[in-house]
Amino acid sequence: MTTVAVVGLGRIGSVTAGCLAELGHRVWGVDVDAGKVASISAGRAPFLEDRLQPILQRAVASGRLTATGDLRGALAESSIAMVCLNTGSSDEGGTDISGLLEVVDQIAELYRAGEFSWFAAPCRREHTTAF
Ligand SMILES: NC(=O)c1ccc[n+]([C@@H]2O[C@H](COP(=O)([O-])OP(=O)(O)OC[C@H]3O[C@@H](n4cnc5c(N)ncnc54)[C@H](O)[C@@H]3O)[C@@H](O)[C@H]2O)c1
Repeated sequence: MTTVAVVGLGRIGSVTAGCLAELGHRVWGVDVDAGKVASISAGRAPFLEDRLQPILQRAVASGRLTATGDLRGALAESSIAMVCLNTGSSDEGGTDISGLLEVVDQIAELYRAGEFSWFAAPCRREHTTAF
């Protein structure tokens, strides 16, 4: 059993959080959108996704999934972070990853002294880093 922070509870993050909890992991789901946090806390899927609703219900009822707006608190409880934030377009027409970098900075601040793994959905590949 691993304790995982899933940052961003959108289409990728809420499914990831629910499925990790279903597999028996302890999951802290984090989002800046209070509506998504409230919805998942009540065991309700924030959008239509086949089979997600019962998975979230079981995850929350079992105490394996907690949704929160508190990134720092969730990271402090976790040994892995999966960052599932949306990315926008930059003025130059590229990908705007400033939101992602803000979250990574907060991870770095907390874990400067130790070792911590993080994965970012936008890059579609694993990054593991030690601070
Ligand atoms: N949806 C897909 O099929 C898919 C497939 C592969 C990769 N991706 C990539 O995965 C990433 C996530 O996609 P998605 O479809 O889940 O996006 P989404 O827009 O559905 O969800 C993103 C969530 O991140 C939250 N968020 C934004 N800033 C935050 C912050 N600072 N702290 C915490 N939460 C924050 C938003 O409120 C939102 O709920 C995107 O970068 C996307 O390109 C998506």
